Amino acid sequence: MSAINPGFSPKTSRRVAALKPSGLRKFFDIIAEMPEVVSLGIGEPDFDTPEIIRQAGIRALQAGETHYTSNAGISTLRRALAKHLANRYGVHYDPDTEIVLTVGVSEALYLAMTALLDPGDEVLVPVPCFVSYQPEVVLAGGVAVEVPLRAEDDFQPNVEILQQYVTPRTKAILINYPHNPTGAAADRGAMATLARFAAEHDLIVISDEIYDRLVYGVEHVCFPALEGTWERTILLGGFSKDYAMTGWRLGYAAAPASLLQPMLRIHQYTVMTAPTPAQVAALTALETAEADEAVEAMRRAYDRRRRLIVDGLRSIGFPTREPRGAFYVFPDVRPFGVDDETFAWRLLEEEQVAVVPGSAFGKAGEGFVRCAYATSEANIEEALTRIARFVQRLH
Ligand SMILES: Cc1ncc(COP(=O)(O)O)c(C=O)c1O
Repeated sequence: MSAINPGFSPKTSRRVAALKPSGLRKFFDIIAEMPEVVSLGIGEPDFDTPEIIRQAGIRALQAGETHYTSNAGISTLRRALAKHLANRYGVHYDPDTEIVLTVGVSEALYLAMTALLDPGDEVLVPVPCFVSYQPEVVLAGGVAVEVPLRAEDDFQPNVEILQQYVTPRTKAILINYPHNPTGAAADRGAMATLARFAAEHDLIVISDEIYDRLVYGVEHVCFPALEGTWERTILLGGFSKDYAMTGWRLGYAAAPASLLQPMLRIHQYTVMTAPTPAQVAALTALETAEADEAVEAMRRAYDRRRRLIVDGLRSIGFPTREPRGAFYVFPDVRPFGVDDETFAWRLLEEEQVAVVPGSAFGKAGEGFVRCAYATSEANIEEALTRIARFVQRLH
């Protein structure tokens, strides 16, 4: 490369400079170079998208569905989504003004934060949490206020603790059940208490329910369906996890028009529309019994793996809360006398098993590791054998 102007050093924004590198990235970069690894690291379904949905996508391309759609997304899909949410959770949105299809929940999060926050506005972010939450707040000019979740509360928000972090600048709270990284599902009582807390402090609630269909032995509690929550909630959902459609990049936001329309304006100027073939395929995902059965079959498979890994981890000696949702389990590694980073790095080096240190999801995740069971039972069994061998050496 020729140095045309060697003294030139571009100045990028302070916001970007303030972003910490993701704790997950370096880990996954190393794993990618290790073919022998048994990975419990990646938070993505190992299943391919169900055949009927894939075929719908192929047909969409062949039929020339390769153009922009309306900004909010194709109206048939918005209508199908409104019906789906009403049928499943009894929560009602006007498909003409209260739903936008987005490029994954990732974009929906970006829209929510950018629409809500003025510089310095604070968002309560219970941690551990999905790694994008704090950066999304910071990129929108806000301040992410981390509030610890505790294992003894089953990783549900504890209002007494939240209370200590509220200031006059607190504008919103970002919740996520079923929960990444702990696998906790929403507890109806804890959510009702949180709803009262949000009302008392006049907070907007952003509820990321991307794993809503992946619950085991419990019912999913849809936050905006709870009493007194609808007006102040932005519901985020998507197709990546439940329908094994991560690469299609499709999610949505649903909220009262007063919140949704500002988000739609940002979407219009930044992204314009979510991918068209993905939207057409998603219609099949929502409207066919076959797709529904495929989701249920994947859920049952995750459930079997969940029981296998929880039993295995407990029998090795890890204190492990029973995860009720998503495809994660969050065992406590402290009884083995090492911190989560050391545990994860040594396990990777010595036994080629990848788990993610809990501290990658925020300080409150320290002492735990995230194991994703979106992988085959054979892989889980092999990982458990290697983990058992590894902890023998730690003793
Ligand atoms: C809690 C949570 N929200 C959002 C996302 C991003 O999902 P999407 O693929 O829809 O952008 C993830 C992905 O891991 C997640 O775990």
